[in-house]
Amino acid sequence: MSFGKNTRADYGVDTAAAVLRFMVLAFVGMIFALSAPFLVHERELAVHLASLGRGLAIWCSICATVMVWGSRVGKLRLRDRVIAGLALKGNEQVLDVGCGRGLLLVAAAKNLDRGKAIGIDLFAKGDPTGNSEATTRENATLEGVDQRVELVAGDARKLPFPAKRFDVIVSSFALHEVRDLADRQKAIAEIARVLKPGGRVRIVDTRHTDEYVTALREAGLVDVARSGLSFATIVPSRIVSARRPLA
Ligand SMILES: C[S@@+](CC[C@H](N)C(=O)[O-])C[C@H]1O[C@@H](n2cnc3c(N)ncnc32)[C@H](O)[C@@H]1O
Repeated sequence: MSFGKNTRADYGVDTAAAVLRFMVLAFVGMIFALSAPFLVHERELAVHLASLGRGLAIWCSICATVMVWGSRVGKLRLRDRVIAGLALKGNEQVLDVGCGRGLLLVAAAKNLDRGKAIGIDLFAKGDPTGNSEATTRENATLEGVDQRVELVAGDARKLPFPAKRFDVIVSSFALHEVRDLADRQKAIAEIARVLKPGGRVRIVDTRHTDEYVTALREAGLVDVARSGLSFATIVPSRIVSARRPLA
């Protein structure tokens, strides 16, 4: 949903449907708490029901706030940690797999002067989260990196790029959306295929990170490591890092 033209990049609210549900429940709880004394005549029961309603309203408000905070603040902090950790020189070719609205893509592009940041995503029509090529392009423009960003509609399981094309490959909160283990393994094998010798990988995700570690090692990558849990988002995540050997 959009009200007029955006003036700031918007990387979206994850689990927006759940946030909405919590807000509705908080509202219901509040109404329940306020109306119980008028609807129930037995005083003790009315007090009990009102406190139940209050509890529901408070708990659901906290959940919704934490979720929105994760998307608006926590996720951006995690993004900054990932991009800073890469210490980009500025001439790299960077690929963001499942770039969505360009969270990592745009941040990487901001650290490039001669290089390019390429984002690939299904960009499925009618995506319930509102992700689309146009939104990502708008974010890149608003952040002043439009010239350094390319967008490609495609599938992580069959990357439309030649082997050894990228210096750095990143991905955030995307690969868990690939349903089957075999397909996720395909996506990881594709990431390894299009990575240059000496190239680096960073994958942030809430699930399956142990699988990514195994698949990256099987694809011949080295220095494969998985970070501790980050609580920057409501569902904790980990960063998987790896490097393709030079030889
Ligand atoms: C939760 S969003 C994350 C977007 C962005 N990386 C971020 O961190 O905000 C997941 C994205 O992965 C994309 N995606 C899911 N499966 C994919 C696939 N097989 N190939 C490419 N992109 C995919 C979705 O279209 C969606 O935009």
